[in-house]
Amino acid sequence: MNPNGRDGLRQAFLNRKIDVSRGALRSAWRRRLRRLRLITTIDSLGRVNAAPVATCLRNNHHPTCYEFTMDARKHTSENIRSTAEFVVNVVPFDRAVLEKMQVTALPFPKGVNELEVAQLTAIPSKVVKPPRIGECLSHFECKVELDEAMARLALDDSR
Ligand SMILES: Cc1cc2nc3c(=O)[nH]c(=O)nc-3n(C[C@H](O)[C@H](O)[C@H](O)COP(=O)(O)O)c2cc1C
Repeated sequence: MNPNGRDGLRQAFLNRKIDVSRGALRSAWRRRLRRLRLITTIDSLGRVNAAPVATCLRNNHHPTCYEFTMDARKHTSENIRSTAEFVVNVVPFDRAVLEKMQVTALPFPKGVNELEVAQLTAIPSKVVKPPRIGECLSHFECKVELDEAMARLALDDSR
């Protein structure tokens, strides 16, 4: 296997280990990893997708609103554009869950359920169709409200 080829890079990514055994390092990683969220969506055929995001921000309290940045060609973006729904899953500082989360970041073909591949548990949401993740601490079930100006920006970004 070519270590610089696609398979080599994928293996190196999966083999990455984070040493969180020492106090200061542990709290630095805790701060950094605390911001991680897993976004679950479904596509127009109802197939589940999951991807980690580090850019997720709660930008309003009442009503609760979340924003994050993602390339318009990613499945998460495509799904949200077609269904206008997603779930923000808050990832715990737990090695086993963080390692599973890394697996969901791999570039699987469209339609592959990353929750199944990563062995994370899908549980039904209460108001939206994408599932919540059982291993996550809390979940925010979100609906997109696009105004005309935002829709135009999103379309510009996908070109
Ligand atoms: C820890 C972590 C954080 C990430 N944060 C982001 C992010 O904020 N925005 C983004 O576009 N991609 C981010 N990625 C990369 C996506 O998760 C990755 O491209 C994923 O394959 C997208 O999946 P999808 O095509 O199924 O939506 C992150 C990856 C990891 C491992």
